Amino acid sequence: MTAAYLTFLSQLPRRFDEIGSVIPSGKALSHVMTSPIREVAPPRRILEVGPGTGPFTREIIPLMRLEDELVVSEINAKLLRQLKKSLENDSRFSNKLHNVKFIEGPVQEILQNGESGPYDVIICSLPFLNFTPEMTEEIMSLFHQTLAPGGTLAFFEYAGLREWAVTFTLPNNKKRVKGVEDVISSWKNRAAKEGSLRKELTLANFPPANSYFLKF
Ligand SMILES: C[S@@+](CC[C@H](N)C(=O)[O-])C[C@H]1O[C@@H](n2cnc3c(N)ncnc32)[C@H](O)[C@@H]1O
Repeated sequence: MTAAYLTFLSQLPRRFDEIGSVIPSGKALSHVMTSPIREVAPPRRILEVGPGTGPFTREIIPLMRLEDELVVSEINAKLLRQLKKSLENDSRFSNKLHNVKFIEGPVQEILQNGESGPYDVIICSLPFLNFTPEMTEEIMSLFHQTLAPGGTLAFFEYAGLREWAVTFTLPNNKKRVKGVEDVISSWKNRAAKEGSLRKELTLANFPPANSYFLKF
């Protein structure tokens, strides 16, 4: 885990927009974010987006049965290589990796070029607040299109960060953050109307985070 964290830290200065956090998620948030997998019977197709050092991946793999499949999409080549290597070298995970596909690249491209689903569960760690509203909309639409009927999309955001960003950033950035917030809110509202929307606060994470679970 130390090598993985060192790689993570080494990527922060140049890639903060993509990474969006300074510390990997903890055990409690990993457990909450992977809860939709425990609610569906196998066979399950799971998509994990933005594994970073892999706290969620390490929680997902032990839940997998023989007939389950996991696609892991990570934009950062170094982080993905490090994650793959650390899982292959750990006997708790290595014998389950035959059903895991690691794909380097932006999830938007991966979903448009072959890995189009359907997925029973999508577990997303993307830092949407660092993105543009257009990119956020593109990614959320693709998630919607690739979710299996009754499937769950899970994502999280640090508690209070959105409000902080809207209040304290420069006017230009404020407009962008507000745009992202509108996109996310409209997908949450759509889920609440068409399927379901659930929110769970994890205080035992640094920083505390709200997880959202959307069904359409
Ligand atoms: C906030 S970190 C989350 C890491 C880890 N899941 C955790 O909770 O600690 C976000 C991750 O998303 C990745 N990422 C950012 N944009 C991406 C994209 N368009 N497609 C796939 N991965 C992306 C980053 O490289 C980073 O590893």
